[in-house]
Amino acid sequence: MGIRGGHLLDLESLTAEEIISILDAARSFREVIDRDIKKVPTLRGITVVNLFYEPSTRTRISFELAEKRLSADSLSFSSVTSSVQKGESLKDTIQNIEAMRTDMVVLRHSSPGAANFLTRCCDSKVINAGDGAHEHPTQGLLDIFTMRERYGRVKDLRVLIVGDIKHSRVARSNIWGLKKLGAQVAICGPSTLLPYEIEKTGVEVFSNLDKALEGVDVVNILRIQRERQDAGYFPTLREYTLLYGIDATRLKRLNPGFTIMHPGPMNRGVEITVDVAESSDSVILEQVTNGVAVRMAVLYLLMAKEPIADKEGVLTP
Ligand code: CP
Repeated sequence: MGIRGGHLLDLESLTAEEIISILDAARSFREVIDRDIKKVPTLRGITVVNLFYEPSTRTRISFELAEKRLSADSLSFSSVTSSVQKGESLKDTIQNIEAMRTDMVVLRHSSPGAANFLTRCCDSKVINAGDGAHEHPTQGLLDIFTMRERYGRVKDLRVLIVGDIKHSRVARSNIWGLKKLGAQVAICGPSTLLPYEIEKTGVEVFSNLDKALEGVDVVNILRIQRERQDAGYFPTLREYTLLYGIDATRLKRLNPGFTIMHPGPMNRGVEITVDVAESSDSVILEQVTNGVAVRMAVLYLLMAKEPIADKEGVLTP
């Protein structure tokens, strides 16, 4: 099964079956990136433009690597070194790039809905690499992939997302994806950093971290997103760390075999202590590795015209 609509804009509009097909394909690509020769000819002849209007380390390099591993031609655009600085609009930018015969675009932008807007002003297949506080679907997918590989399932996993939920596109994509696959999702943070009516998505809401951590399998820790905050949401960082920082003492409340996750970038000593970030229960760098495989799967499925795997699960590009 491919991805309906020819774009990946969010996880809210995907079905559980579509999410599973991406996770299954990512498992095959994860095997590819562990080989000595980490490359397949799958997207030979396809040109992908990485259009980044916001800073990024992981997502940008991960997409570039995924494109190169699939033998696509990969171009990178940064708004700060482009004619955006001379006033060129997003629409004019993509239409000029597409006039050079490109096929796919990966967009990171500070405005919610920017990726959706792009689908209406170009013919390329569009992948949302994070649009404001709306969604970051490939981050959600790689987080869910990491949980599924570790536990062999997502259904009934107890997942807690801690931190600045209000400004987090990662939290939204995790919530949509995890709920569709049957996980039990809870969120925790200062009440000022919890979105209005978030409980309508079916998540359990906590403001007391120690209560929230009881019986949890996976903790996904978010940073404070100062670049998207327009007001003081808590008195001091020190107070935030005392109430919502994850340290080794707090981990005792979790279920045996628990997992620590963080989408990055981390603010060590604020939302997570150094020893927790670097502990054997942390899969933070594993998430980054899995991100390349998940993005390969998304790029492939968006271009695929046929089912991607035979009965034995072997990729047939
Ligand atoms: N997780 C994530 O999106 O990181 P970057 O901002 O570095 O891409």
